[in-house]
Amino acid sequence: MGEIIKLNESDENDLCRGISFYSFTEDFSEIRFQKKSRLSGKEIKIIVQALAAGKDFAQKKIINAVLIKKVLEENPDVKMAVDEIKNYDEYTYKHSLNTAFYAMLIAKWLKFSEKQVKEIICAGLLHDIGKLKIPLDVLNKKEKITDYEYGLIKNHTIYGFNLIRNMKGINNSIRQAVLLHHERMDKSGYPFKSGLSDINAYAKIIAVADVYDAMCSDRVYKKRKSHFEAFRMFKNEGHEIFDAKILKVFLSRMPKFLIGMDVLLSDGEIGTICEISPDSPEYPLIKTSHGLIAAGVDAAVLKII
Ligand SMILES: [Fe+2]
Repeated sequence: MGEIIKLNESDENDLCRGISFYSFTEDFSEIRFQKKSRLSGKEIKIIVQALAAGKDFAQKKIINAVLIKKVLEENPDVKMAVDEIKNYDEYTYKHSLNTAFYAMLIAKWLKFSEKQVKEIICAGLLHDIGKLKIPLDVLNKKEKITDYEYGLIKNHTIYGFNLIRNMKGINNSIRQAVLLHHERMDKSGYPFKSGLSDINAYAKIIAVADVYDAMCSDRVYKKRKSHFEAFRMFKNEGHEIFDAKILKVFLSRMPKFLIGMDVLLSDGEIGTICEISPDSPEYPLIKTSHGLIAAGVDAAVLKII
């Protein structure tokens, strides 16, 4: 960083200051992604930061990411399905792309083969296709949904499984991922309340990618949470419900992409994320004009602009 910054230990209030994402490390419009076989670390960082800042153009970059583009070109039925999702509900479309992108990263970190990574991308793109069968007024209801409506929404896993049952290029692992992406290790999920051994690896990866994006995206009925709040949830509560190996690689790799982002602290000051410890990814170190602080992420003090 060039400059040595001292942590101001006397100012305890700093520890509970909330943050929101303010800007990227790069000028996104100036970056042209290279046409090569894989995304560079820098390109992944730009997409992750664009998603963290809630920028719409992130999806245009995701859909052109080499492996995701390949999956869509090689599987016209999947491309048609993704177009159908886009025409039906913009949020579900964006969420499907984001989930496919995060799932692709996790699968690569876990050293899955390219064939498997492509299948996991397919599963990410299609995981919520069953929502095509859910009325839009239920899907995007601003008020609290009724138990009946929640039951309808939960059916999207089974609807999705049936919609892709005979789709060309879709194998059983992908079908299982669509069906089981809301199952949880402690049997608290749906539709079957399956346990650890009944959930396939693809579904376990999609589950983490899905929840991460859903927590960090704006919906008509809720504001997005900070990515650091998501890291805290995964770290504190994740081991009960998600696969431990997937969580470990996710929490050790994903937070680092946010280093360099400018953030707005809840007291109005702007700082830059300069370090994120793997042991406490929920407490990024922020460089401000007053020194280095550990930012808190309590929802109560988090201010999102
Ligand atoms: Fe879902």
